Amino acid sequence: MTDNLILVDTFTRLAGLIGHPVGHSLSPYLQGRLASHMGINMVYLGFDTEPGSLKEVIEGGIAMKAVGFNVTVPYKKEVMQYLTEVDPNAARIGAVNTLKPKGDSFAGYNTDMPGFCRALKYDGVDVKGRNVVMIGAGGAANAVLCGLLEEGAKSVLILNRTVSSAEALADRFRSDYPDRTIETMALTDDYISFMKRSEFADSPWIAIQCTSVGMHPDDGNTAIKDDEFYKLTDIGYDVIFNPSETEFMKRIKACGGRAYNGLKMLIFQGFRSFEIWNDVVVEDGFASELIPDMEEILRRNRTGERS
Ligand code: ATR
Repeated sequence: MTDNLILVDTFTRLAGLIGHPVGHSLSPYLQGRLASHMGINMVYLGFDTEPGSLKEVIEGGIAMKAVGFNVTVPYKKEVMQYLTEVDPNAARIGAVNTLKPKGDSFAGYNTDMPGFCRALKYDGVDVKGRNVVMIGAGGAANAVLCGLLEEGAKSVLILNRTVSSAEALADRFRSDYPDRTIETMALTDDYISFMKRSEFADSPWIAIQCTSVGMHPDDGNTAIKDDEFYKLTDIGYDVIFNPSETEFMKRIKACGGRAYNGLKMLIFQGFRSFEIWNDVVVEDGFASELIPDMEEILRRNRTGERS
C-alpha cells in the first residue's frame, strides 16, 4: 500500500469532509492518495460537525482559506442556504457534496452524479437508449437518476419501498426530460409484468441498486428477492461497496450478468471534487491503483484488523 507522502508546511492547503459522523469515511485516504499522486500540497481532514454548527464551520473554512470541502450526511441539503451559488445539477439533485471558495462563501457542486457516470464509462457500461430499473429513492438515487438521464437512458423504472418518495424523485426530473419514460412502482407491486412488457423487449434491463439493504453488516440481504427480476437484467450496479460483492451482485452474476459495486463511484466522485478544488485533471487509470488498496482497508475494517 502506497504511503501518503505529503510533507506539511505553511503552504499546505486545507480540505476536508463536513458531516456527522465522519469517522468511517474513506475520503481522507482517497484525497491523501490523490494529493500525493498529483503532487499537490493539500491535506484533507474529517470535520465532525455537531448539529447546529454547520454555518460556523463554513465561515471558519472561508476564514482559514480552505481549498474546499466535501459535505456528507446529514448536511448535503442544509448547506445550500450558506452558499454563494449552487451548480444547476446539484440544485436538480437537491444535494451539494463539494464546496469551492467563491465570493464571501463557497460555490456548491454535486460530484456524486459525474462520479457515477465516470464509473459507468470506466466499466464500459453504456446506458444510452437502454431501459434501466433503479431500486431506491434516497440520496444516492437522486444522483443516479440525474446521471442516467444525462447519459441518455431511454426509460427508467424507479422501485421503492415507499412509492411516494419514488414519485417525488421522478417528478423533479420529468419536465427536464420530456422524451424519456420515468415510471415508479412500489416493491410490493407487480414490477416483473411491467418489465416484461413488449415496449421494453428490445434489450435486457440494467439494474442499479440504490438502497442501503445489503450493506455490511447486513451482508446477504437484498431489497429484491425475486429471481425473475435478475433474469431480466444483464448488468447490475450496486452503490454499496462494503461488502465488495453484495447479495444483489451475486444474484445478477448467477443469472449470467455483469455486476459492479459502488467503490468506483466513490473514487470518481472524489476525483471530481479534487479536480474542482485544484483545477487539474486526474486520469481515470489511477482508480485501478486505488481499488485494491481501498478494498483492503474495507476488509480490515470489517475484520477489526489494524494496519
Ligand atoms: P442514501 O442517502 O444512502 O440513499 P437514504 O436517503 O436513507 O440513504 O435512502 C435509503 C433508501 O433505501 C431508500 O430508498 C429506502 O426506502 P424508503 O424510501 O422506503 O425508506 C431504502 N431502504 C432502506 N431500508 C430498506 C428496506 N429494509 N427495504 C427496502 N428499502 C429500504
